[in-house]
Amino acid sequence: DASDIEKGTYPHYMLKEMDEQPGVVRKIIQEYSNDAGELTIDEAILSAISESDRIYIIAAGTSYHAGLVGKQYFEKLAGIPVEVHIASEFGYNIPLLSEKPLFIFISQSGETADSRQVLVKVKELGYPALTITNVAGSTLSREADYTLLLYAGPEIAVASTKAYVAQLAVLAISAYVTGKRKGRKIDFDLKHELAIAANAIQTIVDSKEELHKISKEYLSHTRNAFFIGRTIDYYVSLEGALKLKEISYIQAEGFAGGELKHGTIALIEKGTPVFALVTQAPVALNIRGNVKEVVARGANACVISMEGLDEHDDRLVIPKVHPLLTPLVSVVPLQFISYYAALDRGCDVDKPRNLAKSVTVE
Ligand code: G6P
Repeated sequence: DASDIEKGTYPHYMLKEMDEQPGVVRKIIQEYSNDAGELTIDEAILSAISESDRIYIIAAGTSYHAGLVGKQYFEKLAGIPVEVHIASEFGYNIPLLSEKPLFIFISQSGETADSRQVLVKVKELGYPALTITNVAGSTLSREADYTLLLYAGPEIAVASTKAYVAQLAVLAISAYVTGKRKGRKIDFDLKHELAIAANAIQTIVDSKEELHKISKEYLSHTRNAFFIGRTIDYYVSLEGALKLKEISYIQAEGFAGGELKHGTIALIEKGTPVFALVTQAPVALNIRGNVKEVVARGANACVISMEGLDEHDDRLVIPKVHPLLTPLVSVVPLQFISYYAALDRGCDVDKPRNLAKSVTVE
């Protein structure tokens, strides 16, 4: 059928979509640059964000994980406090809201019913809403006041990959541009740093064979796996675990490195795979301490570190990027490792059992 033609020589959409990620970041840089070549977003959206005293990010699944990183961006770059909520929870338990809230809905499809239900309530309450979506004209886009597009191209595989990276890029740009508008001190050039991140993603995409090896090494004979990280790496751990669960059916959990000892470490046995992300200098020693704790209990630890923070025995070292942009890069090896685990187990990579690309029922 037509969609198979679109897949070209790729065996799976997921593989094609992961490969497209460097291009997606470059396309976003282009789409969000003005004639002077500076990053920009629509003026009305910029005002809406700048004027809000608190941002409420609402999303589900992978988009929720992007929202957790987005909170870091808006708080650190724009100086606006952010709450991130799971759509299906928020609708039934609306927290105390600030004076001037702005709601940001993150949704690849723009059709997720759980998110739409919240949007309807938000509009009833009369608050402004911005949708960040890959699909122009989608329900969430039409019903919100403002839309920022992801420009990732159609994402067909049920497991979201390029849309997540696109969401991070658009969130970073929005926060950065807002911070600049508010006259905040920002000491780096995001456009330049995003271009570096795109190249770093390409390096990882080009190391597929190595990632397949890692996947075989750690995941061939396991029923479960853990992903750990601290601060921003923790959010990527959650996404890494979700990818693995979704397509390979290996039970996986993402944890904050420091929280492991408060219960979860009981699950570590001889050979349990633990993927640890080390991209954040302020917590690099702490997460390495957590790795030692699990190794002492027999875990098979796979440390994925960033250049500059790497140590001799790390299994994979990713190219150096700006500390806020590490999620765009560190998620990519986790996507590929999950892909190969699913492939080697004979799973239906693009259409995992029980899952739908967009869930339009509550
Ligand atoms: C479904 C998909 C997930 C996705 C989630 C949110 O559950 O299987 O991959 O992350 O919906 O989708 P959205 O389109 O709102 O980002």
